[in-house]
Amino acid sequence: MISTTAAEIGAYVGQEVELKGWAYNFRSSGKIFFLQFRDGTGRVQAVYSNSELPEDQWNALNGIRIESSVIVTGVVKAESRSPSGFELQGISFRAVHVAPEDYPIGKKEHGPDFLLDQRHLWLRSEKQWAIQRVRNTIINATFAYFNENGYVKFDTPILTPTACEGTTELFSIEYFDMGNAYLSQSGQLYLEAGIMSLGRAFDFGPVFRAEKSKTRRHLTEFWMMDAEAAFVEHEENMAIQEGLVCRIVKDVLEKNRKELEILERDVAALEKVRAPFVHMTHAEAVAKLRELGSDIGDMDDLGGDDETVLTKLYDRPIFVEKYPAAVKAFYMKRDPQDPMRVLGSDMLAPEGYGEIIGGSQREDDYDTLLLRMKEHDVPVEPYQWYLDLRRYGSVPHSGFGYGLERIVAWVCGLQHIRETIPFPRLINRITP
Ligand code: 4AD
Ligand code: MG
Repeated sequence: MISTTAAEIGAYVGQEVELKGWAYNFRSSGKIFFLQFRDGTGRVQAVYSNSELPEDQWNALNGIRIESSVIVTGVVKAESRSPSGFELQGISFRAVHVAPEDYPIGKKEHGPDFLLDQRHLWLRSEKQWAIQRVRNTIINATFAYFNENGYVKFDTPILTPTACEGTTELFSIEYFDMGNAYLSQSGQLYLEAGIMSLGRAFDFGPVFRAEKSKTRRHLTEFWMMDAEAAFVEHEENMAIQEGLVCRIVKDVLEKNRKELEILERDVAALEKVRAPFVHMTHAEAVAKLRELGSDIGDMDDLGGDDETVLTKLYDRPIFVEKYPAAVKAFYMKRDPQDPMRVLGSDMLAPEGYGEIIGGSQREDDYDTLLLRMKEHDVPVEPYQWYLDLRRYGSVPHSGFGYGLERIVAWVCGLQHIRETIPFPRLINRITP
């Protein structure tokens, strides 16, 4: 007997195979039983007939419920009407586990709160399955891109004594008798130490923001990838980001056609994501928004709605460059042409998705950095180690960070970020 998976059965047409998984649905005519089978790799229908199955197995089959775990064997047949292209002509059946009650998620429409309460089960549904598979491709594409471009994976700490992106959004915990520690908002500052050893480095891990934002773009726990490189300046920093995002989209288009179809994603929109991306300065973005009726001020940050409007104008990602220094973090290097602005950029994803990456060249001069910290009310003492990076062999350097869930939401075409992560943490949700 060949033991295989739903994804692989095409290699065994005409042969008898065994599959282990779950019955996600079924129907019966009394004489013929149609079992909708899934096993994590894919889905396939197994068709059993009463006359060909031993009676105890036929009874077991008729006793299953939705999401019972099962082992099925049968002969693989090509079946053009089936989405998988194949079907199993059932030979034997075994129930591994049948729940004593009906599965909570039915075929009827459920509201988002109910589904989020059932997240541990909701993950089994086809759409959620597809999202996690795309997420996995995006993670792998990211590692591949950096490994192929001379970056070393560098693990930055999650428990930290200070903030990276401002103190208002920190989760704090009591750290023995040493006072408060904070959950990391971004590994960037530590990564800057890493590149002074390794040249180029990236991290990838969960970060935490106690942001009181209840939007479709915000989680309180999300996965960030930070990348940093020595001797890289603002322009090259953006070119690296462009290369990364093109690689991610290319890999998803190559490896996840079926998933994108399940998600009803407009693939043509993703195929347009090619270099060169759109570039505009913050000043140009503001002017364009005003033309479109916005009352945004000259030195205002772009809000979520502004990003939505802008990104609907182009079919590729946009780099908005040179934001006012006042709306960005203390470590960003100022633009020598205009010291009110920084040598940084946000990358906004098209189709209304908005910011997916934030990055900049970093201030590398000791005295200037010290001044910026004072201007931003950043306490100097706990950051002595960070200042040391400008004391000993300082170099021009740049980096950026992406929010994995923002990218997954965009690539999958999802309305809300909560479906992009297995167990979302929102300001009003920490369960299951
Ligand atoms: O723009 P941010 O705040 O940049 C940084 O943290 C830098 N230290 C990164 C760096 O230069 N190494 O965050 C980076 C990205 C954003 O562009 C966005 O995609 C995502 O993280 N992000 C969030 N994603 C989900 N929920 C939130 N609350 C997020 N806040 C930021
Ligand atoms: Mg940002």
